[in-house]
Amino acid sequence: MDTPQTSTIVILDFGSQYTQLIARRIREFNVFSVVLPCTTPLDKVLALQPKGIVLSGGPSSVYDDTAPKADPKVLETGLPVLGICYGLQFMTHHLGGKVVPAAAREYGHAEVELVDPTALFHGLPEKLEVWMSHGDHAETLAPGFRVTARTANAVASIADESRKMWAVQFHPEVAHTKQGMALLKNFAVDICGAKQDWTPEHFIATTVAKIREQVGETGHAICGLSGGVDSSVAAVLVARAIGDRLTCIFVNNGVLRKDEFAKVQKTMREELKLNVVAVDASERFLGKLAGVTDPEKKRKIIGNEFISVFDDEAKKIFEAEKSSGEEIAWLVQGTLYPDVIESASVHGPSHVIKSHHNVGGLPEDMKLKLIEPLRDLFKDEVRRIGRDLDMPEEILERQPFPGPGLAVRILGEVTPDRVAILQEADAICVEEIKRAGLYRKVWQSFAVLLPVKSVGVMGDQRTYAYTCAIRAVESEDGMTADWAALPYEVLRAISSRIVSEVRGINRVVYDITSKPPGTIEWE
Ligand code: XMP
Repeated sequence: MDTPQTSTIVILDFGSQYTQLIARRIREFNVFSVVLPCTTPLDKVLALQPKGIVLSGGPSSVYDDTAPKADPKVLETGLPVLGICYGLQFMTHHLGGKVVPAAAREYGHAEVELVDPTALFHGLPEKLEVWMSHGDHAETLAPGFRVTARTANAVASIADESRKMWAVQFHPEVAHTKQGMALLKNFAVDICGAKQDWTPEHFIATTVAKIREQVGETGHAICGLSGGVDSSVAAVLVARAIGDRLTCIFVNNGVLRKDEFAKVQKTMREELKLNVVAVDASERFLGKLAGVTDPEKKRKIIGNEFISVFDDEAKKIFEAEKSSGEEIAWLVQGTLYPDVIESASVHGPSHVIKSHHNVGGLPEDMKLKLIEPLRDLFKDEVRRIGRDLDMPEEILERQPFPGPGLAVRILGEVTPDRVAILQEADAICVEEIKRAGLYRKVWQSFAVLLPVKSVGVMGDQRTYAYTCAIRAVESEDGMTADWAALPYEVLRAISSRIVSEVRGINRVVYDITSKPPGTIEWE
């Protein structure tokens, strides 16, 4: 990562499920923060010129041989350090104190009482509702440290202000800790002196300037559009930097939603002023999908076909530019920060670009270099940037839609007829959810076409047609989800409209399964 042109707080990740949240919370008050694996060499950490360092939580015990290790010299840089949970134990362990298994594991809500307030608790009440999650505790503090807050059972916070070290046993980054944001702000802004200038405006200006410099005066770039928020924001940022030298490719894979191919093209061209090459490859995709019922096979086929269509188009553009004396050297991708962190986490690298994502591998001979303008951002930050770029809400608030599209919502074989049926049912579902003002409240809401036919009656006619399931879930990140308790009137409207307006469906059911154990998509 480049040295940012703003104050940075570095978070060293010891593997806690909440580490990303620490960065998000700090960024919420406009201070830039980055997550690095705890094993990052100290010189790399310091190269970022951080204003302060946060040591995250983690599932291990500091005294275990397998415990994730940071260079203990991180405690000798003279920069302010905030330890959180495992971070407190790491400090204690490495500075001469003793960490042992706690007699009672503390997990969940707890009340903390300040006993010797420090700058970390400035402006906070004397009693705090916090979220605890630990099995170890500091039995003996390291020399120089004192207890600054307690729960009924244990040490909740310690400090050694002469060494600029503070630590809490609870998790200020989770929503259950009511004053958590204020505490993190006290650390980042008051104690570390970080500037609160990590704003969308700042981000846009520096990113556009950086892309301009990267690509130079004559370079060309291509970008695959999905119609979703990430690829659109990435494309608009790059277009700001290099204008017409960006060409976007939008592929109809035959399993898009109703009218989506036309609508997305219109928005991208007319509202976002992007240079778009639209390719209707639906026949090619549906041909390959014929007879296939296995969900993973469907995904692979769509992923591979996408890469192949994208490559064909990219080559055409490539040849055209070459003949005009210019070369395409850049590929724009909407990679987000969570993918970047995950790929470098303490748990070891995992795949960054999933095969089903919108842009896959490209031919070797094109040797494209990547532009990833959103690499430092979380999803909600991408939306904020999009708003500052005056992009339409319709794109920014779009619910996530899987790369393999309706193919994983048509159980069994994907045929043109079934796609058409599901497109109609899905459009009604989305329309009614929007009408009820629920579109932004739910994470995803959609229809699924089941390969189950049942008997019905319409007028005097007996019908024998498909069943459609409605799925609506609430979620923070798609990793876990709750089925949404949609009002009966909304369910009634969706159901009666689908059965009366969509030929081929005569029964509608509502999916009341959470994730886990269910998944959001049915395939
Ligand atoms: P599941 O069904 O695994 O979905 O609970 C979690 C989130 O991921 C989306 N999803 C996909 N996105 N390609 C994608 O680009 C896929 O193959 C895919 N499968 C699931 C899903 O819509 C939900 O938001």
